[in-house]
Amino acid sequence: MNNVSSTHSKSRDALEKVLKITGELNKLNDIDTILDKILEEARKLARAEAGSIFLVEKNKLKFRYVQNELLYQKDSNNKDIYSDLTIPINTDSIVGYSAKTGKTLIIDDAYNLDDSHPFTFNSSFDKKSGFRTCSIMTVPLKTHQNRIVGVMQIINSKNPDGIIMPFNQEIQNYISFFASHASLAIERGIMTREIILRMMKMAELRDPNETGTHVQRVGAYTAEIYHRWALNKGKKIEEIKKRKDIIRLSAMLHDVGKVGIADAILKKPGRLNEQEYNIMKQHTIFGWQLFENATSELDMLSRDIALLHHEKWNGKGYPGSFHKENGLFHCMEKGKLGEEIPIEARICALADVFDALGSKRVYKEKWPDSKILKIIKEERGNHFDPDVVDAFFQILDVIKAIRKRYN
Ligand code: C2E
Ligand code: SIN
Ligand code: SIN
Ligand code: FE
Ligand code: FE
Repeated sequence: MNNVSSTHSKSRDALEKVLKITGELNKLNDIDTILDKILEEARKLARAEAGSIFLVEKNKLKFRYVQNELLYQKDSNNKDIYSDLTIPINTDSIVGYSAKTGKTLIIDDAYNLDDSHPFTFNSSFDKKSGFRTCSIMTVPLKTHQNRIVGVMQIINSKNPDGIIMPFNQEIQNYISFFASHASLAIERGIMTREIILRMMKMAELRDPNETGTHVQRVGAYTAEIYHRWALNKGKKIEEIKKRKDIIRLSAMLHDVGKVGIADAILKKPGRLNEQEYNIMKQHTIFGWQLFENATSELDMLSRDIALLHHEKWNGKGYPGSFHKENGLFHCMEKGKLGEEIPIEARICALADVFDALGSKRVYKEKWPDSKILKIIKEERGNHFDPDVVDAFFQILDVIKAIRKRYN
């Protein structure tokens, strides 16, 4: 009798925990942060060593997130989340099978698959990394309308003594339940990013330089540099991840104000003269105006980044303070200085310039990396915050993985 009631309350505790986590998931905005949280919590439920998530994109499975407690340093930036691996949705692979059929797969030993299965285990990741996959639970991520948005794979469940074991029935139940709730958060995260990309599409119709991939890159660079900078400052990983969530989205919107700039200037196939450049500078203020009545943390940060991403550490940036006269904004000579500029804007400034120099523009060719990195070093302490430049160089491998992912 005792036994039964204790099992019962244990499972109720676990259920309550799952519900609490899904509540927290719904507070997150950015799809990458949502996937990170989903994997972390699913792995905790199973005490699992590793996990990954694939999302359906254009009728294929696109690798989107990975965690592995043996291969990746906990809490550090991870370049592998920007891998561009895609897998066809068919029954040849384990994740493909799950996405194709909508079935959950429980595998006790990846290297001893039952011959009745149509798929084979792809051991190339294990071979490359030295990791040893054993037990696998693969769950399709379905919306309430039964549309499959992706597949979650949890690897190497452990018992309380840390011994790898098959996924037991209880853990299977919790993970399935959790996955069914997680899909909603994923859908919402995808929608948020799509709305932003649609805003940028409108801007792109105006300015062919401001492409979707440019904003994705600047968003991801800014979020990852922030992650490294904040670790260097001793901030807690939970706080970092929460802030990172809104930073990526806000940084994607840094140049939305360019929609307010006339075509003749925006698309001028050559150098701007001084008068034209002064008008161009107003894109910071136009962006700020879009978020003028900000109340949410996301809107307030978007407002700051749009306004301040061209300020410089040495005070020689723009717009500084400004006033309106005859319907036009006038910027003051002096820009904001040093820590008067919020950290997210200091970081976005570097991310934006790094990306602009590495891209072809109507007025300039693409620069080689050596020249770009040289300029960034020279501008350390001038245009850019020295601590931000240091964080940037610490994660240069992540920066390059992002550039490859969104090229
Ligand atoms: P953008 O093209 O996205 O460039 C962002 C920032 O990257 C620039 O801010 C600048 O700090 C840096 N950058 C870009 N290209 C170069 C370069 O060739 N040399 C150097 N040293 N830095 C570079 P900035 O200057 O405030 O410009 C803001 C925006 O104004 C640019 O965004 C671009 O849309 C426009 N713009 C600036 N100069 C020109 C120009 O001569 N011709 C045209 N058509 N547009 C320009
Ligand atoms: C991790 O390796 O823990 C993930 C890092 C991230 O949030 O990007
Ligand atoms: C430009 O190239 O248009 C401006 C250069 C700079 O801000 O460093
Ligand atoms: Fe800008
Ligand atoms: Fe830009």
